[in-house]
Amino acid sequence: MDRFVLTIDGPAGSGKSTIAKLLSRREGFIHINSGMFYRAIAFIFGEDVSEEKLLNLKFSFDVKDGEMVLVYNGKLLNEKLQREEVGKIASKIAKKSFVRDFVNKLIRDTAKSGRFVIDGRDCGSVIFPDAQVKVFLDASLEERAKRRATQTNEDLDRIKEEIRKRDEQDKNRDIAPLIVPDGAEVIDTTDLSIEDVYKRIVQLLEGFKE
Ligand code: C5P
Repeated sequence: MDRFVLTIDGPAGSGKSTIAKLLSRREGFIHINSGMFYRAIAFIFGEDVSEEKLLNLKFSFDVKDGEMVLVYNGKLLNEKLQREEVGKIASKIAKKSFVRDFVNKLIRDTAKSGRFVIDGRDCGSVIFPDAQVKVFLDASLEERAKRRATQTNEDLDRIKEEIRKRDEQDKNRDIAPLIVPDGAEVIDTTDLSIEDVYKRIVQLLEGFKE
């Protein structure tokens, strides 16, 4: 098989990246975190992004120990991108079609051959509608906010309100809104451990073992 794609979509804090990282480490998938591209663009340009700026943007990314690393101007961006305030700007610029086209091209050009797990909001609906396996992860707002607050050490109530607004924005935008893609397996992770979710996804992959 030249290319195998597993997409994991879902709202903020639903566990997409955690599971994708595990799949990368244990099953040898190359993990592409599409949200990180939106975050990087938001971090570098703020809301003031233009097509011209994107054309001249040079960042590089690689996968190390299951994790995607993004380098800009010789500096590792990863940690700087995690905060909710970057996510908030990312969600605003993600409404622009030229930004989405830029990110989608980068991802499609990267995922030409090999085994990929790609997580985000439109991976199974727009970027790879022909993906072999599609998963949609969800969880209660309370649980998702707790996970994010633990990850970034930010105030729980503030995070909860911010991700509620971000979800609303992501679900209601005109282009590539957050939806359950056709053919996706929906998993509610609210009361599931990471290992439980992992096992469910590995079961879905069973049918594709060579
Ligand atoms: O997944 P993450 O929370 O890092 O994504 C940050 C923001 O980037 C999302 O809230 C969403 O607006 C945008 N995004 C998107 N499409 C994707 C991935 C992320 O619009 N495939």
